[in-house]
Amino acid sequence: MATEIVEIKIGGKSFEYPVTVGTYDEKGIDISKLLAQTGYVTFDIGYKNTGATKSAITFLDGDKGILEYCGYPIDQLAEKSNFLEVCYLLLHGELPTKSQFDEFEANVQRYYELPTEVVAVLKSLPKDMHPMGILSVMLNTLCGCYPNDLEPSASEATHWENVYRVLGHMPAMVAYIYRKKAGLSFLKPRKKADYCENFIYMMTGKVNKTIAKAMHTLLILHADHEQNCSTSTVRIIGSSGSNLFASVAGGNNALWGPLHGGANQEVIEMLEEIKTLGRTPEEHIAMVKDKSSNVRLMGFGHRVYKNFDPRAKIIKRFADVVLKDLNISDPVLDIAKSLEKTALEDSYFVDRKLFPNVDFYSGIIYRALGIPVDMFTVMFSFGRMPGWVSQWRELRASKEPIGRPRQIYTGAKKRKYVTYRGR
Ligand code: ACO
Repeated sequence: MATEIVEIKIGGKSFEYPVTVGTYDEKGIDISKLLAQTGYVTFDIGYKNTGATKSAITFLDGDKGILEYCGYPIDQLAEKSNFLEVCYLLLHGELPTKSQFDEFEANVQRYYELPTEVVAVLKSLPKDMHPMGILSVMLNTLCGCYPNDLEPSASEATHWENVYRVLGHMPAMVAYIYRKKAGLSFLKPRKKADYCENFIYMMTGKVNKTIAKAMHTLLILHADHEQNCSTSTVRIIGSSGSNLFASVAGGNNALWGPLHGGANQEVIEMLEEIKTLGRTPEEHIAMVKDKSSNVRLMGFGHRVYKNFDPRAKIIKRFADVVLKDLNISDPVLDIAKSLEKTALEDSYFVDRKLFPNVDFYSGIIYRALGIPVDMFTVMFSFGRMPGWVSQWRELRASKEPIGRPRQIYTGAKKRKYVTYRGR
């Protein structure tokens, strides 16, 4: 099939650009020669229309509410897979055979225990530091634990070792942050245990298979989401040749913000406030619609999903199942449901295509599982880690150039320096 060509006319001259086509016929105008040929750059604040890379990992269609990891629909993976299998899938592009899975799991298990330096750094950090800040410090500290394995030119085997290290260390990092904040001592890992069972044990000191199973599902739902803010951050850091640990630490910082992963904490805080103040859903929605209030309906809206977020649908159903399994009744779940209903019937949300996103119900489940509110975004990071790692590896494998956007300068024109010292 002939390549589609797009013609751009500037000052009466025509320039032709080829169209890059994806697996599902998504189309992007390849303007990589635009600046050199015309002197113009594209202008797209917030990258709303910019395809920054080609990727074979995750597909999402925001209009149809489709999310697939390497071709596998998210609902099938959430129902049937486990988190480590999904990690393997994202990293290799294929589901593992039994022996491939066993080998992968054993490699990750080798790193369940944290390096002593990371534990020492954790102990030294202020107790009131936000868990996301702590996690970034711990991830960066890994650079000091494996200093000889960080070079971009390191062998492929060394790069894989770093993948196992970061995936293997995550359960202990998250569990130890929780225990530090709670003033509890740190527990040794259960070295041959299932990934999530080991995590729950290290966090709580108990093995609870129901909670571990729920954890697998939640982590799978967060595992990757193509070129979102934190993943793009990981890729852009990696593009300068920075090592894996430094790159995912940067991704973690990007995830922290309330417009991204930090929304899960804000949702619960919003729901609690509605409950405490005895506000009705209608009153809260009226406040959100009043732009002067500067209040957003947290857990609603998405840059790409303009129909529904398939993860939110699964998580909403899952919240009912988990709370029932654990015999917990949470009034905040009812508030969330009526808030969602009120919003979805309101033209403000309908017209702007604003639907619940992955963060709207996830916090209710985390809370039921005994995870404190300020740890919610760390849980998101825990789940997103294989996505960041896979995208970092893909960037390296495809030898992408350093990420470096352009700008339109709007500052002062050249002028003469005059000092306040009256020289
Ligand atoms: N509540 C109220 N109004 C909203 C919301 C919201 N949650 N989200 C968007 N809007 C409105 C905006 O005010 C804007 O209205 P306008 O056209 O009258 O000016 C319109 O909808 C478009 O919003 P933008 O901010 O331009 O959309 P964008 O794609 O840039 O932002 C975002 C997406 C950041 C997710 C936004 O919807 C938001 O802030 N949501 C709340 C925070 C949240 O839940 N974040 C988690 C996202 S999922 C994730 O990262 C894991």
